[in-house]
Amino acid sequence: MLIQDSWWKGAVIYQLIPRSFADGNGDGIGDLQGLSSRLSYLRWLGVEAIWLTPIYPSPLRDGGYDITDFKSIHSELGDLAGFHRFLLVAHEHGLKVILDLVLNHTSDLHPWFQRARWAPKGSKERDVYVWSDDPTRYSEAPVLFRKFESSNWEWDEVAQQYYLHRFLKHQPDLNYENPWVQDQMLEVVEFWLGKGVDGFRLDAVPFLFESEGTRCEGLPATHRFLKKVRKRVDQSGRDILLLAEAIQPVKEAAPYLVENELHAAFNFALTAHLFSAIASGKCTNLRLCLEETKLAVPGGNWALPLRNHDELWLGDGYLVSQEVIEAIRSGLHQGHGHWLNWGINRRLAPLLNGDPRANRLLHALLYSLPGMPCLYYGDELGMGDWPGLRDRDPNRTPMAWTAARNGGFSSAPEPLLVLPAITSPGYDYRVVNVEVQKQLPRSLLNWHRRMLTCRRLLPALRHGDCEILESNHPSILVYSRSLGSMTVLIAANVSAAGASMRLDLSRWKGSRVREAIWGCEYPPADQDWFVYLASYGFSWWLIGEVENNDLSKVDD
Ligand code: NOJ
Repeated sequence: MLIQDSWWKGAVIYQLIPRSFADGNGDGIGDLQGLSSRLSYLRWLGVEAIWLTPIYPSPLRDGGYDITDFKSIHSELGDLAGFHRFLLVAHEHGLKVILDLVLNHTSDLHPWFQRARWAPKGSKERDVYVWSDDPTRYSEAPVLFRKFESSNWEWDEVAQQYYLHRFLKHQPDLNYENPWVQDQMLEVVEFWLGKGVDGFRLDAVPFLFESEGTRCEGLPATHRFLKKVRKRVDQSGRDILLLAEAIQPVKEAAPYLVENELHAAFNFALTAHLFSAIASGKCTNLRLCLEETKLAVPGGNWALPLRNHDELWLGDGYLVSQEVIEAIRSGLHQGHGHWLNWGINRRLAPLLNGDPRANRLLHALLYSLPGMPCLYYGDELGMGDWPGLRDRDPNRTPMAWTAARNGGFSSAPEPLLVLPAITSPGYDYRVVNVEVQKQLPRSLLNWHRRMLTCRRLLPALRHGDCEILESNHPSILVYSRSLGSMTVLIAANVSAAGASMRLDLSRWKGSRVREAIWGCEYPPADQDWFVYLASYGFSWWLIGEVENNDLSKVDD
């Protein structure tokens, strides 16, 4: 079946931190040159798009989300000409490139902010940021980085006023009530569109506007501005992805996905429910979240991450219920002692206690649920973390390429590395790295590659309808994805114990059934089908005779 759709519909996104991915010039810091040289790996793995965390000039007090120039490249990463070369190579490899677009704030070292604080109160220069004489304004807006900040306001000695910062005090919030600010940021969008990027991940979108008596999240004015961004993008006539980072419950994130606004949003509530299912061994809440997601925006394009460069955000009961948070808190023991602001500051593998079965299960869900699976660099290897590093750095350490010095990330002397390479027991780069895992047929890396190949061969997983089916076992989630004559049936056991159940396949009675990943034949579908799934086991079955799907072509 030929599907004409936007490139990003159901695309597999690989998130990477350019500073931590590959160092091309040997200074110990990852850069665009190094990244370009590793694109063939990403193509081999089978992802379709790469999302780069911010690459702009920045004092790096918040991983580059504190920007001093929106239209340039951080000198440690390269320059605009280097970006152009990188983009060409990425496109030659068939990879789309998504940039982080930080709309809400700048660095306090941005020339706009420096101008604003020295300009007279009430002047148009001052008005580029949100100032107040009263630091109790917007008191219902929670402090997000509560480990580092105790208020959303900071006193500025020069300005003799407080300025608003929803994140660190080094990140003053732009004043979107000011049309000049809106125009400038729309120009930034246009600038990068002109460079040929394929999409934007819109950082912290809920916070653009403020209003007294609210949490200052997702206000109507914010949605109005985002529609302007969409309009600008549409005017380019290109197929561009606008992906919202809104850490909000499904119902509150859904309004970003209306037709004339953004194309996609991360489903962070679903992420939390996936972890809570693993932590509790039960999938009742996960199931409810999937149903809610489906109803919230029919056909909505959600991006599905497990981990990313931040903590595993769980929040204060607003994103997901306290019950879900408690299940994670008590069930994921490796998270104990690693809470940062509102979540757990660990990478996926250590959080799952190094259990590759749980890693496989969670990714098998990601790769088969509707939406865009997001893979965080290194998670395809089961890479570890370095607890004890500052802020969210434990999750941002160099990619492990080989068993050579610094994991093949850089030829620089070790102390010069952007962050230390992982050498902790069980995760040492001499063992956990791309080169070694490529050679081991049963490695996690080869498993991910195979799953992504299968996903490509099974368009129902990308474009098909999803139906959550009845399950009479609290640990087994069952759902189907169907497109035309293709149906893939999925069952997943979220518990560490084996589980079995009877499945009613009467609606497909007599149809051929094959295991979809390895291709082995099952007895034809019947009303009374018995399923056994081992600890964290899952299965994808292909139901019926399906054209264009030669599973034997899936190589290891
Ligand atoms: C969300 C980003 O993911 C996070 O890393 C950053 O600290 C905040 N936005 C502020 O930009």
